[in-house]
Amino acid sequence: MRWWATALIVAFSCVLFVFQATAAEQAVIVCIECHARLPVQYSQSVTLWQTSIHAEHGITCNTCHGGDPMDAANAMNPARGYRGVPLPPAIPGLCGSCHVGVARYYLNSAHGGTLGRGGPTCVTCHGSHGIKSASLDLISKKNCSQCHTFEKARLIRSAMLKRDTMLMAIEKKIKLLKSQGIDTDQQEKRLFSLRNRFHTMFHSLDIKLIILESEHIQAELEKNNGAGGIGTAPLTGAVAIGWALLAALMFYLIKKNVD
Ligand code: HEC
Ligand code: HEC
Ligand code: HEC
Ligand code: HEC
Ligand code: HEC
Repeated sequence: MRWWATALIVAFSCVLFVFQATAAEQAVIVCIECHARLPVQYSQSVTLWQTSIHAEHGITCNTCHGGDPMDAANAMNPARGYRGVPLPPAIPGLCGSCHVGVARYYLNSAHGGTLGRGGPTCVTCHGSHGIKSASLDLISKKNCSQCHTFEKARLIRSAMLKRDTMLMAIEKKIKLLKSQGIDTDQQEKRLFSLRNRFHTMFHSLDIKLIILESEHIQAELEKNNGAGGIGTAPLTGAVAIGWALLAALMFYLIKKNVD
């Protein structure tokens, strides 16, 4: 076969493959279709889920409930893996299958220790379907004084607030630089792991640990901010090196002309 015929077939297969993959991604999930038309008790899951962070990341009904999302007649058949509504004691295990670090802190905390005996599960605080990006706003009188006083919650919140503000300011700075076309990959990577460490530790409810870790994180942010890390310093450095190279080049050219 001629080389171009082979190339044509390969190209055609690629197009077909991409087309199929896109079609599969957009396949209708029967759970959503049917539930959206049910009375509110069974359709609110859909309404809430649609604007959730999970929907944004492709985590759908069957990820948590099991079942067959392609076959309406058998969607909720246990033989197709349908598991029903998870009971409270099973919820941390379900959510923790993806949120591993959070679940580890939670299970060792006063909340995890009272699971099934009055303690909150993940969905008490985050909801089950309308889950949004989490922040310290969740630590409020409304959410945290149903079962005990707000006092301990207030201590944790104020211990975290200063570093939270710091993290957010740096995140904003990086976004701004990125929008100006500056390469922020390194800074983003470093911030990402610090940010994760910070936002999972709340679940320990351990005020001593939270204060200690917050101080470590602040130290690391400050260190990085000064010496080629998360702040703008590395970019100033890069610009300086750029100017130095340019100056050297100019010097070389001028010298060459003079010679
Ligand atoms: C053809 C319509 C239809 C489809 C498709 C469908 N459901 Fe349902 N679902 C229902 C109805 C009706 C109920 C309420 C009555 C019942 O529990 O059977 C329900 C109830 C539920 C419940 C609550 C059960 C309980 O014990 O309270 C869950 C969870 C659920 N569906 C999940 C799913 C998932 C996940 C899928 C897709 C894999 C799915 N459903 C597909 C019609 C449907
Ligand atoms: C991230 C996991 C997760 C996803 C995704 C999810 N659910 Fe649920 N769902 C749960 C949990 C956990 C409960 C139990 C809630 C509780 O105990 O408060 C539940 C409860 C339900 C119930 C019982 C009534 C209610 O609203 O509490 C229905 C019906 C239901 N889900 C349907 C759906 C449908 C339809 C989808 C897709 C649009 C979906 N779920 C997506 C975790 C999930
Ligand atoms: C199949 C994996 C999976 C399961 C199961 C799952 N999640 Fe998620 N969750 C994700 C992904 C992916 C994201 C978006 C990326 C991120 O922020 O981590 C997310 C985001 C979140 C966020 C927002 C995180 C943020 O950055 O602010 C919360 C809160 C959350 N999930 C809670 C839950 C709860 C509660 C459950 C159980 C009812 C659950 N998740 C079950 C994968 C999962
Ligand atoms: C569904 C009930 C419930 C809700 C809602 C709840 N808690 Fe708790 N919490 C408990 C139980 C039960 C304990 C263990 C017994 C105790 O210390 O009162 C506990 C203990 C604590 C402790 C003490 C930990 C320790 O080691 O001494 C802190 C701190 C705490 N909760 C913070 C919070 C915060 C913050 C919120 C809101 C985001 C919250 N709680 C919401 C039930 C709840
Ligand atoms: C007592 C309330 C409460 C309970 C119970 C709880 N969370 Fe959280 N969760 C919070 C708060 C408050 C934050 C925000 C902390 C912050 O901004 O640093 C948070 C943050 C998160 C995040 C975001 C972490 C990140 O990297 O941005 C995820 C994911 C999450 N929770 C999942 C879970 C899961 C899974 C469970 C159950 C194993 C759970 N949560 C139990 C209150 C709770």
